[in-house]
Amino acid sequence: MSLFITFEGPEGAGKSTQLAHLVRRLEAAKLLHTVTREPGGTPLGLRVREVVLDPALSIDPLPEFLLYSASRAQLVQGVIRPALARGEVVVCDRFLDSSLAYQGAGRGLDGDFLRAVSREATGGLIPDLTVLLDLDPALGLARAAERGQPDRLEQADLAFHERVRAGFLALAGEEPGRFLTLDATRPESELAGNIWTAVHNRLFRQAPA
Ligand SMILES: Nc1ncnc2c1ncn2[C@@H]1O[C@H](COP(=O)(O)OP(=O)(O)OP(=O)(O)O)[C@@H](O)[C@H]1O
Ligand SMILES: [Mg+2]
Repeated sequence: MSLFITFEGPEGAGKSTQLAHLVRRLEAAKLLHTVTREPGGTPLGLRVREVVLDPALSIDPLPEFLLYSASRAQLVQGVIRPALARGEVVVCDRFLDSSLAYQGAGRGLDGDFLRAVSREATGGLIPDLTVLLDLDPALGLARAAERGQPDRLEQADLAFHERVRAGFLALAGEEPGRFLTLDATRPESELAGNIWTAVHNRLFRQAPA
């Protein structure tokens, strides 16, 4: 029963937190699953992650996008497609929509170009469900800051992060069937419940008992 789920949203919105909740529920339900993240998830992806998040590096928008795409291509080919082919639930922390929001809405790269390259990188793979945790970037950055030194993207100015947030919301508006958009200021456990209901619906075509 394969299903491809992605978590999206600005810095500190609670993507990793909610992904962990979902994974616990998948385990409890004894559903085979693969958990991964972008950039990362493969040896190449981990190297790319070090590069793109390095606060000491200055990277232009185009090479930044191409680096993410390289990581994504390897991840889809090496991890996501094989897991889906085995019938697993695949849960990915960030995916294509992050490029469209950050490198498109945020950095100003052309959306059609991003989509064309991404189609090649993913072989046209689109998530079945995308959970968008929506949050005021000022709040998200404050949450992330409690973790320590900001990474290269967390250091970008607030106007950039406002554009990213608007970019995510626009994407969700274009594909309401794929996106589950949630207010990330709500309590963690409530959000986890909403996400599980949406996943359960897609797996079993009905809400959990
Ligand atoms: N619903 C919530 N309400 C309040 N705080 C939350 C909520 N969910 C997560 N947090 C807190 O916000 C911080 C960031 O959460 P998390 O790391 O899951 O976000 P993220 O979206 O994965 O961030 P990043 O973009 O940096 O990977 C953590 O300290 C977490 O405990
Ligand atoms: Mg995270």
